[in-house]
Amino acid sequence: MSVNSKVRLGVNLDHVMTIRQARFTPYPDLKQAIVLAERAGADGITMHLREDRRHIQDDDVYLAKQVIQSSMNLEMAATDEMRDIALNVKPENCCIVPEHRQELTTEGGLDVIKHGSRIKDITLALTEASIVVSLFIEPDLNVIDASAEAGAPVIELHTGTYASREGEKQIQELQRIKNAIAHAASLGLVVNAGHGLHYENVEPIAKIENIYELNIGHSIVAHALFVGLEAAVQEMRIKMNS
Ligand code: PXP
Repeated sequence: MSVNSKVRLGVNLDHVMTIRQARFTPYPDLKQAIVLAERAGADGITMHLREDRRHIQDDDVYLAKQVIQSSMNLEMAATDEMRDIALNVKPENCCIVPEHRQELTTEGGLDVIKHGSRIKDITLALTEASIVVSLFIEPDLNVIDASAEAGAPVIELHTGTYASREGEKQIQELQRIKNAIAHAASLGLVVNAGHGLHYENVEPIAKIENIYELNIGHSIVAHALFVGLEAAVQEMRIKMNS
């Protein structure tokens, strides 16, 4: 968590399973993907069990928990169903995300101000089961305050806006993220970040002081089509450390 320590890389394997679910085939194999990602230097494996089960399935989550040697980060909506699954699976980490059925991917962060009491209840239930909870939020100082009040020790800042912008607008969003991280660190929160990060835009984010972990999926899986998963993870690590 200190300034210059290596930023952790959580590899999100959702889109390996997107390929399987496109045809309901037995391949590609999640276990193999986990082993290769970890061998290549992943510090953790992330997966999102969506309410519509479009990629990761319930059985995948249980299997992953058996196979993962590093640490498992289960992304999930703040529902009773997902809370109960998490309490059964007992991943090391849970990241609470907003979820809208029609979205292509997670759009924006949790509204912790509006849904504070629900998020607080789920955070407490998971924390009591020794699961480290993070809240996926916008880099907004008020939402960071609300996250600390909800009792989450970790936040994950949404970098999707940064990723979708260019030039001066991207620099402005980068500054907003830097300010948010400084504020969160002053409150004692651990700060992760993710969404939309790829090989060309990850460096400025990985260089920010006090960033603990980046969770990256789509770009790594896409690159793996051409270079293989191990090389894709290794290349991302190199970019993050450069
Ligand atoms: N972090 C969170 C909370 C997410 O929901 C996602 C997407 O599932 C990611 C990180 C990874 O985003 P991407 O696939 O764009 O790298």
